Amino acid sequence: TTPTEADLIGKNEVLTIYKPREKYSHKGTFGHALIIGGSYGKIGAINLAGRGALSAGAGKVTAFTPKCGYIPLQGAFPELMLITDKDEEKLTEINFDIDANVIAFGVGAGTDNASIDAFEAFLKTNKKPLVIDADGINMLAKRESLLKLLPERQTILTPHPKELERLIGTWKDDFDKLQKTKAFSKNHKCIVVIKGANTITVAEDKLYVNVTGNPGLATAGTGDVLTGMIAGMIAQGYDLLSATVFAIYLHGKSADLLVDELGYQSFIATHVVEGIPLAYLDLF
Ligand code: APR
Ligand code: MG
Repeated sequence: TTPTEADLIGKNEVLTIYKPREKYSHKGTFGHALIIGGSYGKIGAINLAGRGALSAGAGKVTAFTPKCGYIPLQGAFPELMLITDKDEEKLTEINFDIDANVIAFGVGAGTDNASIDAFEAFLKTNKKPLVIDADGINMLAKRESLLKLLPERQTILTPHPKELERLIGTWKDDFDKLQKTKAFSKNHKCIVVIKGANTITVAEDKLYVNVTGNPGLATAGTGDVLTGMIAGMIAQGYDLLSATVFAIYLHGKSADLLVDELGYQSFIATHVVEGIPLAYLDLF
C-alpha cells in the first residue's frame, strides 16, 4: 500500500475560495437552502441546521418538517420559512413548491419506514445538490438501493463515526477507514466527510484535512449546525467541494474562537452558530 496524500485546509486555503459580497447583491444572489428533516422530539436539529445555513450566508432558508415543527420553529426562528408534512410526527410525503439551490436532508428525521419511503420518492425526482446527514445517512444504510438514486457528483454525506460504519462497514485501522471511504466515494460519486477531530473530506481520490476545531464540539447538535452551514455555502454559489471544506473550517474556527471564553465543557451547539460571524471576521 502507498501512502495517501492529503491537503490541509487552513486559513490560506479558505481565503482562495472566499468570494466577497458585492455592493449590488441582494438576497437572491445568495441562494435558497431547503432543509428537510425533524421528527417528534427532534425538531431542534432543524433549528440548528437552519441557523447554520443562514449564518454561513444563505440568502434564504426554508425548512420542511413534520407538522409538530410548525409552532416551535415559527415561534423561535423568525428568519426561517417553513413547509410541513401532512403527518404530525414524522416525514411521510415530501412535496414543496419552492426552487431551492440545495437541499439538506436528514437531521433529526428518524428512520421510520414511512420516512424512508418518502425519502426514496423524493430522491426519484430530485435534481438538486444534496447534503445528507444523520438519519438521512442511516436511511441510506438501511435501504442501500437508495444509493443509486443520489445525484452524481452532486451529493455530500456527512457521517459521524457510527454513521460511517453503517455506510462502509467496520475498519481495521485509520488507513483502512480512509481506503474504504475513498472506495465508497468513488463508487457512489459523492463527497464523504469523515467527522471528528481533524475532519477529513474525501472526494473520490482526494483528501482534505481540516485544521480547526476542538473537543468543545463534542456535544449534541454541532453536526446539525455543520450540515446547515455546508448547505448555506452551496446556496451562495460555492461548488460542492469548496462549500464543504469552507464550512468545516468556519465551524471549527467558531469553536476555537469561543472556547477561550466558554470552556470546553459548557460550549454547546448554539455557540457554534454564534461564533460563525467571528470565524468569518477572523479571515481578514
Ligand atoms: N474535535 C474537533 N471536532 C469535533 C470533536 C473533537 N474532539 N468531536 C466532535 N467534533 C465535531 C465533528 O467533527 C462534527 O463536526 O463536532 C461535530 C459532531 O457532529 P455529530 O457527531 O454529527 O454530532 P451531533 O450534532 O450531535 O449529531 C446530532 O445526529 O448524527 C446524529 O446520532 C447523531 O443524534 C445525533 C444527531
Ligand atoms: Mg450528527
